[in-house]
Amino acid sequence: MIKKAVLPVAGLGTRFLPATKASPKEMLPILDKPLIQYAVEEAERVGIKDFIFITGKHKRAIEDHFDKAVELEERLIKAGKLDLLKKINSFEHLNFAYIRQKEPKGLGDAILCAKSFIADEAFAVLLSDDVIDPNFSVLEKMMSLYEDKKAPIIALEEVPPEEVSRYGIVAGKKISDDCYLIEDMIEKPDKSKAPSNLAIIGRYLLTPSIFRYLEGLTPGKGGEIQLTDALRELLKETPVYGYKIKCRRYDAGEKFGYLKTIIYFALSDPEISHDFRKFLKEQLSCI
Ligand code: UTP
Repeated sequence: MIKKAVLPVAGLGTRFLPATKASPKEMLPILDKPLIQYAVEEAERVGIKDFIFITGKHKRAIEDHFDKAVELEERLIKAGKLDLLKKINSFEHLNFAYIRQKEPKGLGDAILCAKSFIADEAFAVLLSDDVIDPNFSVLEKMMSLYEDKKAPIIALEEVPPEEVSRYGIVAGKKISDDCYLIEDMIEKPDKSKAPSNLAIIGRYLLTPSIFRYLEGLTPGKGGEIQLTDALRELLKETPVYGYKIKCRRYDAGEKFGYLKTIIYFALSDPEISHDFRKFLKEQLSCI
């Protein structure tokens, strides 16, 4: 069983400036919950209770979000708003630890910061700006694959060829309907150099062996310590598998993706979907 999740949240979020100048990208709301809460809930659904956040400057709001809010709770109790009280208290049974990444030197460096808290067990990594439809159990599928293979598992998604330069892209051998044995990977390749259109997305099940490879890395693409580079070295020595997701995934870390995420969630929300659909139809008919 994988019991711990690492949530890197120390990035600068430059694609979302100026909104992310002083507040964390991971706190951008999708309806009434911030991105990071969706990731925590997703991990919780597969039994993960221990969360290690890799944080940085201007990220205090994330700690506050998962902390108790005594004054607010008292006010909600006084006002009889117990449904809201339940909503803000939904993390009480979970454990949160926070580690500062000294500088945002890349995802690989962020994950390396968790090394001494992970010790000798496999762990999950979730990037909260990759939002996965909560109706699909991507992590559950990855966990069963991990149980079977006892090897690192990476979530993959087929992307349009013109988008490959935005992702880590893998070359792999298909071994079943949704599982690939990964043979190589390259971070943000030019379209002409991409070995496939299978993109790495922000869900990983990793073994502690990754730390050895992260430690030896020099900065790669974009001057950052890239997780993809460490995985590339790892897979030369041990099998690494890819799980191809079969559901919607939104990149809420950039404007258009964020908008799509909100629209999808609003259309699926029982409380507002009816009115929202009506509103959208009216708006579209005016164009
Ligand atoms: P992104 O690649 O989306 O980078 O990081 P970013 O800095 O957040 O955003 P842009 O590209 O500048 O717009 C994916 C995840 O990894 C974390 C981010 O916080 C995000 O959750 N991250 C990234 C770190 O924790 N540390 C880093 O050095 C880089």
